[in-house]
Amino acid sequence: MRNAVVAVAMVMLCTSVAHTDVRPQRDFNLQRFAGRWYRVGLAYDSASFVPYRDKLKASLGVVTAQANGNVNLTMWDATPAGCRSKTYYYEKTNIPGQFTYFSTRHNMVKDITVVDTNYSEYALVLKHKIFHREYTQVALYGRTQRLRADIIQKFKAFASMRGFPREAILTPPPAENCPPSSSG
Ligand SMILES: *[C@@H]1O[C@H](CO)[C@@H](O)[C@H](O)[C@H]1NC(C)=O
Ligand SMILES: *[C@@H]1O[C@H](CO)[C@@H](O)[C@H](O)[C@H]1NC(C)=O
Repeated sequence: MRNAVVAVAMVMLCTSVAHTDVRPQRDFNLQRFAGRWYRVGLAYDSASFVPYRDKLKASLGVVTAQANGNVNLTMWDATPAGCRSKTYYYEKTNIPGQFTYFSTRHNMVKDITVVDTNYSEYALVLKHKIFHREYTQVALYGRTQRLRADIIQKFKAFASMRGFPREAILTPPPAENCPPSSSG
């Protein structure tokens, strides 16, 4: 019996790896997802990002839900030039938990999927390089700057299952005074 359960779990695991479609969080609720999140984990395997890996900080992001279901995400970033914020506009799709956005940097439409969240503690978010293909980033968001070890572990396992090498799976330290405490 126990072996059968393990076998079923293995099959499910393999199927989800092979499956290119990523399923969003069931019954995704944008209102509950809104608010402050820290990006406490990031898997990003781009050659141009390698020099920045050890400079990365757990930035603060603020998700604002628009009445039509689109999302504004303002991310704070500690840069050599100071603490800067940048806003990203995510458009809803007809699948709750899945959004698209236009990357001005890469001049193409990409998509974002909130894969798993419990709203009050963490969120696992997948970003695709090309619409529906080639995962480029997995982010772990936390309502606090530090998350439980088992959630960090879940993020690392998820990212390595998606083919990210270990050195590209980062859990940066908290950003200091960014945004400045007076405004944050
Ligand atoms: C989202 O951003 C747009 C464009 O800057 C702005 O017009 C809109 O008011 C923002 N919505 C919210 C809910 O912050
Ligand atoms: C979801 O968040 C709450 C904190 O509000 C936590 O107690 C609970 O363990 C979390 N659930 C999971 C599955 O991590």
